[in-house]
Amino acid sequence: MIFLSDKPKLILAPMAGVTDKAFRELCVSYGADMTLSEMASSKALTFNDKKTAHLLSISEDERPCGIQIFGDDPETMAQGAKRAMEFSPDWIDINMGCPAPKVASNGGGSSLMKNPDLAARIVEAVSKAVKTQVTVKMRTGWDEESVNAPLLAKMCEQAGAKAITVHGRTKQQMYADPIDFETIARVKSSVSIPVIGNGNVKDVPSAMEMLEKTGCDALMIGRGALGRPWIFARIKSGLFENVSVPEPTIDERICVLKKHIEKICLYKGEEVGMREARKHAAWYIKGIRGAAKYRNTVSTLCHIDDLYSLCDEIIAKNSSIGSDDEELEKFGFNNLYL
Ligand SMILES: Cc1cc2nc3c(=O)[nH]c(=O)nc-3n(C[C@H](O)[C@H](O)[C@H](O)COP(=O)(O)O)c2cc1C
Repeated sequence: MIFLSDKPKLILAPMAGVTDKAFRELCVSYGADMTLSEMASSKALTFNDKKTAHLLSISEDERPCGIQIFGDDPETMAQGAKRAMEFSPDWIDINMGCPAPKVASNGGGSSLMKNPDLAARIVEAVSKAVKTQVTVKMRTGWDEESVNAPLLAKMCEQAGAKAITVHGRTKQQMYADPIDFETIARVKSSVSIPVIGNGNVKDVPSAMEMLEKTGCDALMIGRGALGRPWIFARIKSGLFENVSVPEPTIDERICVLKKHIEKICLYKGEEVGMREARKHAAWYIKGIRGAAKYRNTVSTLCHIDDLYSLCDEIIAKNSSIGSDDEELEKFGFNNLYL
């Protein structure tokens, strides 16, 4: 059972447009135990869509890595999962939490929480179609009046799911607080497969809170890793070794940014890589003096060499400044929403 070990595993959450191969590799190098692909449409997979296939290539440096698929039709989901298996994922995850209209209004993602029978049939069809483990990522429910994650999780377990991730918010909540720890705890007591807690885990106290309040077996981290792939190592040291590792200095942060963009350019080419560099750079430099100006400059850059020069400039202007807890506060975790 890859989700269980003596210490709770830290898993990088799937994030469309963010958790590509470059970012997954980086997070593993900074302590993520497992990673998940960006979600892929089961329908597009069955059409052999090239762009979708590009999302799914997995390198040895980022394993164990799962592929997440979405859709609303058991047969198409089963076919899509089979196609995804050509990329040798370590498991297949089924998306039952996405609130985006292009997914949820077509009956997939979080809409499946409104139709538990269909959700269970999808889990059963996918579990029968592939030899690897199948898991489900869900929210607590569609809205406050219909919190049904404990029941749905049980149905998914009976249909063949081998682990359940619960993002502790309803679909209606989108990304608003609070996190519903109690429902995650109820999911944990309703199933005998591993439960992964997700929602606002961004540092050692929030990781401890999720573990203590829910009894979950593992943690999944999303936005806390944006521009901060080292969050996994930092949380692990605090949780398991009782050692408080400081936030990296600005120099270190910028070095990781460089490494990150280098990887994106390597996998996707310089043109796409530099376009994607914009959002990542904005996250890495958040809180640094002059961040707004640097953000604007990054958006005009087309060549990685120019990014290197900008990074050198940022380091030269800020190298005396550390990243203490006050600065982390300035990082403004709650402002990291896209
Ligand atoms: C930019 C972005 C993209 C996301 N894409 C996906 C996705 O493809 N599949 C999925 O199950 N969840 C997706 N999510 C939700 C996250 O996986 C996670 O459940 C959510 O952000 C809550 O965790 P956090 O508070 O640690 O960020 C996405 C979230 C963000 C911010």
